[in-house]
Amino acid sequence: MKIHVLNSKELVNKTVSEHLIKFVREHKTGVLGLATGSTPIGIYEALVKDHKENNTDYSQIRTINLDEYVNLDQNHPESYYSFMHRNLFNHINVKPQNIHLPNGNEKDLEMACQSYNDVLKNNQPDIQILGIGANGHIGFNEPGTSFDSSVHIIELQEQTRLDNARFFDSMDDVPKKAITMGIKNIMDAKRIILIAFGENKSEAVYQMVKGKVTENLPASILQKHNNVEIYLDESAASKL
Ligand code: GLP
Repeated sequence: MKIHVLNSKELVNKTVSEHLIKFVREHKTGVLGLATGSTPIGIYEALVKDHKENNTDYSQIRTINLDEYVNLDQNHPESYYSFMHRNLFNHINVKPQNIHLPNGNEKDLEMACQSYNDVLKNNQPDIQILGIGANGHIGFNEPGTSFDSSVHIIELQEQTRLDNARFFDSMDDVPKKAITMGIKNIMDAKRIILIAFGENKSEAVYQMVKGKVTENLPASILQKHNNVEIYLDESAASKL
């Protein structure tokens, strides 16, 4: 793991977005594994700004997202489909057929998992962007998820639902389940960039980097990946 502690969120956003832009320019048909949550928003803003100013070309880039809520309409503003279009896809020239998100509205959710696993086989991320949950989850792989997991349906923990409640009108509106890439899918990415900001991530960050590798702290598996960069602001790094 290469750990980079930078002295502001802005500097993290600038550094990571420069890596992504460089990748896109050098690998025109590459696969970007993308994440949602508040953490990557500044990075997506920087990609949009660069695309406007420099015309960085995404016409053959493929994207693949980590996860999606189950039973939340695709057009709901908080679906990850809406989030990604609002924050990134609507503002760059990525082709709709090259955008991949799991479908949490499929009647047969087992089928939805299987078909996303198939999509992943042909679209293995060259770079996977990750955030981290306060409980150490990556994607929506909550503590206790098997390290051998592929795409699956997960029951969200109370803590995760509480953390995400700020985006919904009430706690009752926060989805209870999600469809997510499994730990094994995430570990198949060639390069992983994990970003964390703020004091409330500091314990999870500490356990991920210094703790033992355990399914109770899903992000700890990243210690076993040979190409991981962790970008932190000072408060997320405060327990290291
Ligand atoms: C969400 C997402 C994760 C994200 C995490 C942290 O539930 N499924 O991919 O990394 O929780 O979110 P935030 O960046 O808003 O702190």
